[in-house]
Amino acid sequence: MPVAMISRPALRELSRILGPDHITTCQDALDRYGTDATKLAYAPDAVAFPGRIGEIAAILSLANQERFPVIPRGAGSGKSGGALPVRGGLVLAMDRFDRILQIDDQNLVAKVESGVITARLQKEVERAGLFYPPDPASISISTIGGNVAECAGGLRAVKYGVTRDYVLGLTVVLPTGEVVRTGVETAKGVVGYDLTRLIVGSEGTLAVIVEITLRLIPKPASTRTMVAFFRNPARTVETVSEIIRNKIVPTALEFMDGLCLQCVREEIGLRIPEAAGALLLIEVDGDRSLTLREAKRVREICLDRGAIEFKASSGRNASDKLWEARRNVSPAMYKLRPDKMSEDVVVPRNRMAELVSFLEEKSGKYGLPIASYGHAGDGNIHVNLMLDLTNPKEVKKAGMAVEELFHKVLEMKGTLSGEHGIGITKAPYLGMEISRPALDLMVRVKKAFDPNDILNPGKIFPE
Ligand code: MLT
Ligand code: ZN
Repeated sequence: MPVAMISRPALRELSRILGPDHITTCQDALDRYGTDATKLAYAPDAVAFPGRIGEIAAILSLANQERFPVIPRGAGSGKSGGALPVRGGLVLAMDRFDRILQIDDQNLVAKVESGVITARLQKEVERAGLFYPPDPASISISTIGGNVAECAGGLRAVKYGVTRDYVLGLTVVLPTGEVVRTGVETAKGVVGYDLTRLIVGSEGTLAVIVEITLRLIPKPASTRTMVAFFRNPARTVETVSEIIRNKIVPTALEFMDGLCLQCVREEIGLRIPEAAGALLLIEVDGDRSLTLREAKRVREICLDRGAIEFKASSGRNASDKLWEARRNVSPAMYKLRPDKMSEDVVVPRNRMAELVSFLEEKSGKYGLPIASYGHAGDGNIHVNLMLDLTNPKEVKKAGMAVEELFHKVLEMKGTLSGEHGIGITKAPYLGMEISRPALDLMVRVKKAFDPNDILNPGKIFPE
């Protein structure tokens, strides 16, 4: 696919639409906005920083006339390349859409612009005694618009669900330049097709998200964090099903294997037992008597299932440290090898032990460290094949291991991505999970929104 260039007259017109201070072609910006958390890099022609919805509409109309790609971008923290300008064009950085417009404690909704950092939104909401539960590990850097575009999950999904479950409505600009409002501002609504759900998780390919109306809930009165160390990873994830079978749905139920523990040993703020091969990090929330009761039961279950050490975290600081270590496990993993192939599979919760044993076997077979961690409460494991991308043998072996992993996951009735999306990194595998007629339908949906394929082209669908 040829890389599009934005013509000089089109660049002049963009500069007129945005004002010359809000568009750049300087190399530093092109480099910075040409890459993301995948560490892959592409070259956009220009980067725009719109400040008004009308500017975005005018840019998309121009892009349709001139046929150049437009790539919406939040913080670039995505893990599957959703914000990469793979065919050049204009990166549309939403940084200036950074206002929290309303937090309504009577209707339990928030209205927010898409460039707001999610952690900031969460803090503001909590200050009002309310709660916005989605909690992606990237929360301190990622934007709510990026979270909506990717349907981010995070640490609390096991109890509270994912971003999709909190989006009531959107204001978007269609690739053809029209401004559209989807969904409702009320607690429910069923008028027409659910365009909101279609756009949430569409990875920036169907519309540019400008404003979001979110559902909020009351803030839980108390939380309790616990950590359980186990000798072996399979036993650890089996304990997850046991906790849930006991009718306890923790706020978070996170898993880290021995390699991950090695990477966050210093950050975690706890002595890790010599024999530990994995851990579960658990949080329960609710009123005080409930959290006490659930914490006690979780402790009994973990010890029954062979935990070698169980600790209830003492105080806010200690538990913040634990969660911070968990959030940072992904970047910490580069201590093992210079690069990684990072997968995001989900399997039925009660089959996680089978998955973990499968990964151990593949690590041995291919001679590559495979570090896994993630949202065990959801059956969502982030599988990281650690390698050196300059070593062609390792790249080949990792590619083979990924393919075997995907076959195994689908055979187990799982899915290829729980929260990171397809982007470019998983596009070649889409057909393994999605049937031909469903894939054709998705392509027709894309065409209906974006007849000239100008919005974030080259994503999701295999070329
Ligand atoms: C996480 O759970 O840490 C996130 O999904 C990010 C990641 O895997 O890198
Ligand atoms: Zn995750």
